[in-house]
Amino acid sequence: MAPKMPWPTYLLDRVGLPDSHKLEVYRQHGGYAALEDVLRKPWKPEEVTAVVKDSGLRGRGGAGFSTGLKWTFMPDPAKDGRRRYLAINADESEPGTCKDRVLMEKDPHGLLEGCLISAYAIRAEAVYIYVRGEYRKSLAVLQAAIDEARAAGLVGKGILGTSFDCEIWMHMGAGAYICGEETGLMESLEGKRGHPRPKPPFPAGYGLWGQPTTVNNVESIFNVPFIVQRGAEWFRSIGTKGSTGNFLCGISGHVERPGVYEVPMGISARQIVEELAGGVWKGRKLKAWFPGGSSTGMLPAAAIDTPMDHDSIKNAGSMLGTGAMIVIDETVSLVEAEYVIARFYEHESCGQCSQCREGTQWLDQILHRIARGHGRVDDPALLESLARGMAPAKTICALSDAAAIPTLALVKNFAAEVQEHATTGRLPAGCVSILAAQDLQEAHA
Ligand SMILES: Cc1cc2nc3c(=O)[nH]c(=O)nc-3n(C[C@H](O)[C@H](O)[C@H](O)COP(=O)(O)O)c2cc1C
Ligand code: SF4
Repeated sequence: MAPKMPWPTYLLDRVGLPDSHKLEVYRQHGGYAALEDVLRKPWKPEEVTAVVKDSGLRGRGGAGFSTGLKWTFMPDPAKDGRRRYLAINADESEPGTCKDRVLMEKDPHGLLEGCLISAYAIRAEAVYIYVRGEYRKSLAVLQAAIDEARAAGLVGKGILGTSFDCEIWMHMGAGAYICGEETGLMESLEGKRGHPRPKPPFPAGYGLWGQPTTVNNVESIFNVPFIVQRGAEWFRSIGTKGSTGNFLCGISGHVERPGVYEVPMGISARQIVEELAGGVWKGRKLKAWFPGGSSTGMLPAAAIDTPMDHDSIKNAGSMLGTGAMIVIDETVSLVEAEYVIARFYEHESCGQCSQCREGTQWLDQILHRIARGHGRVDDPALLESLARGMAPAKTICALSDAAAIPTLALVKNFAAEVQEHATTGRLPAGCVSILAAQDLQEAHA
């Protein structure tokens, strides 16, 4: 049951209802009314795009790009008669991120309604939902919801008795983080290895099977029916000028009550940690925190009053990313924490670009030797120069940046700790190694 929040909510309002995943319950709570309105009035597709653009909705998949603006990149149908597609990114593999799963499992029809309205806006004839392979429950619940919707005339030909046709298909990933990158996702959907494509051409010009395609995150599209029904002004009244609406903050790590919370953009990170998540666990002190998943740079405890919106977090030296906060307490060595993250990126690099393929391996090795007490005095400088060679935007996709950014943040924001660890070979005072447990896991793997 989603806890009651002290501010207006909408994203998780249906989540606590019994059988919230069923069509009947969704309809009892106003479900599919926005789609009916769009199709029966009917709205022009450009009108739907305009309201979403005016709302200021920014993508919730990590990059924070304007959703409505992205839709306008689709070619003019009068001049380009190719088939058009919408791909929904439900890969959700960024460490720390677990919010799309809640929507898919608890309110799948909310996502489907968002898909249908968005497909109408960009004139897509089909929607492909690419779901993380490990999310077996999401896959099962979504498939049942698609079947229910199809049986009720909400998916397929002549939706709600109108001339609007739209299919919705699901595709199961196979556990590769890189398939969450939008062009890697499309390659994978086409049945190929999930290697990101060089850009340009961008998906709107050359997407799935070479046809115009828009790729959007689950939470981005989930917002669409609310915006259509309540208007752009309502959406802009929540959050900050540059970051509008509520977002789902998944908070994990060393807090008393990890979970997914619906919060307005611009709320302070402290309020999320202390009031919603119950504070740092076991009465310990906060040492560092990631604002939006492992690819956003770690910030120090002193930055905890930063508002959680795109501009404020950028000014603080990080990124809002997927809004997935990871909290680290005073007993953790940050070199060890970053080593665990670096290993993830090294493992997930697809290997097409040398900066990423080689860089992620070197970051992993250098952090490993510092963490193991075999660091060298100049290792922090080496880490920095390596990471600078990997980002920003030097490679086919942003995985290289995702690996480099947290390393750069570590050597900048926690310079003294990293230098001391590399020089003395000892964990910082009061820290307990997290690698011992990991060694044990590896021995049993
Ligand atoms: C390595 C990598 C992994 C990504 N994984 C995801 C993901 O799991 N889910 C997601 O929505 N976006 C992910 N993205 C971002 C997508 O490429 C894309 O920007 C996003 O799906 C667009 O949706 P939005 O505009 O609605 O945010 C990833 C990007 C990179 C570089
Ligand atoms: S940046 Fe890394 S993951 Fe992305 S295409 Fe290049 S090698 Fe592959």
